[in-house]
Amino acid sequence: MTSSRTPTTSVDRLAPWAFAEFVEANTHDTAYRPPVVDGPVGPTIVRNGRELVNFASISFLDLERHVPVRRHFAEGALAHGLSTSGSRMTQGICRPHQVLEETIARHTGKERAISFATGLLANIGFVTAMSSSAQFDTGIEVSNRDTVFVADRDVHWSIWKGLEGLDYGRNVHAFRHNDVADLARILNRINARKLVVIAESIYSADGTMGPIVEILDECDRHGAISMIDDANGFMVYGPENRPYAREAAAIRDRADFVMVSLSKAIGLEGGAIAGPAAAIDAFELLSGTSMFTAAIQPPTAYAAERTIDVLARNPKIVDDYLAHAARLRRQMHEIDTPTTPTESYMLSVPIGNDAAALQMREWFVEDGYLVPVFSYPAVLRNQALLRLFPHAGHTEEQMDGFLRTLITYRRRLGI
Ligand SMILES: Cc1ncc(COP(=O)(O)O)c(C=O)c1O
Repeated sequence: MTSSRTPTTSVDRLAPWAFAEFVEANTHDTAYRPPVVDGPVGPTIVRNGRELVNFASISFLDLERHVPVRRHFAEGALAHGLSTSGSRMTQGICRPHQVLEETIARHTGKERAISFATGLLANIGFVTAMSSSAQFDTGIEVSNRDTVFVADRDVHWSIWKGLEGLDYGRNVHAFRHNDVADLARILNRINARKLVVIAESIYSADGTMGPIVEILDECDRHGAISMIDDANGFMVYGPENRPYAREAAAIRDRADFVMVSLSKAIGLEGGAIAGPAAAIDAFELLSGTSMFTAAIQPPTAYAAERTIDVLARNPKIVDDYLAHAARLRRQMHEIDTPTTPTESYMLSVPIGNDAAALQMREWFVEDGYLVPVFSYPAVLRNQALLRLFPHAGHTEEQMDGFLRTLITYRRRLGI
């Protein structure tokens, strides 16, 4: 039987939530109706029927050029099916998950890894597991409500979401972004037996690399467990010849836990937490986000493992990409365009005034470029920035066109 009620009935009942007013008040026309994309996303993107040069893609390596990712995905689908069809606990994990988890543990230098449908769920699961209390049979229990977390203020939303239900000021503390002295000041004040420090490798808001080595030193000094969210660094930084080799080595050799995302360099979807075997085994039950939700689809897990393997065996793919990103950074500096002073592949261009940044975004689209803008509330008011990802598939002509366009706008806005 179909319902005869019109949708307006539920809208009326939703009035106390003020969703309609919230949507109405937002002047950014794509905020609530995401543009529709046709075809694969790459150096260009077809959005609402219009082709734009794409500086927004978080899967930036143009992997299909080097790895037959879609063929691996098809092979994985044929061999392992499309779904795990149940939870890890009731049915078990598929072979591709097992191989992927072993591969991630190996590449992060940890004993074991557990995968999640997304990196976001991995982060929420980590915080949940480290602060959970549960009693199973007599004698089988954990009691970790007294865990104290100290996180960089700018860590990803998913970490803050996980921390949300805990007592801020008692079980949760934030240190100023990338400020090790502030971290030390907070750690000196805390007297806790279970202390967890959370920081990121590359921060997605501003593209900076965290002072990982110094943060890990503070953890050692205070007996704290460390968790580094390496969503943006996984498989990018690491070998000696690349930027941040020292930080990447510290994450591998000294961090207790590492979170990785498969939606960035790997270009797929999924996430994992790697760490000591006993903790990761306990996370099966305690994280919640691995047990009470679907897993990564088997063909995605299969293709992710194949992709990690190809990137590890062909370092030139990432080396070339980093050289490409460094070239764009150099060219920006040559035209007196400031970028965040880090060597990360994410380029942040400070604009300042929120209205000017939003205006720039509209102009970019009119001229055929998709360039993300972070303005308030993503960053502080009037500290707006362009936050772009060079794509490995961008041609010189596309890069030059973007730089010429950027110069024109900056002149027009007098910045
Ligand atoms: C630092 C950081 N952590 C976690 C995530 C979430 O990862 P995923 O996209 O795999 O859910 C992201 C993605 O934006 C991120 O940048």
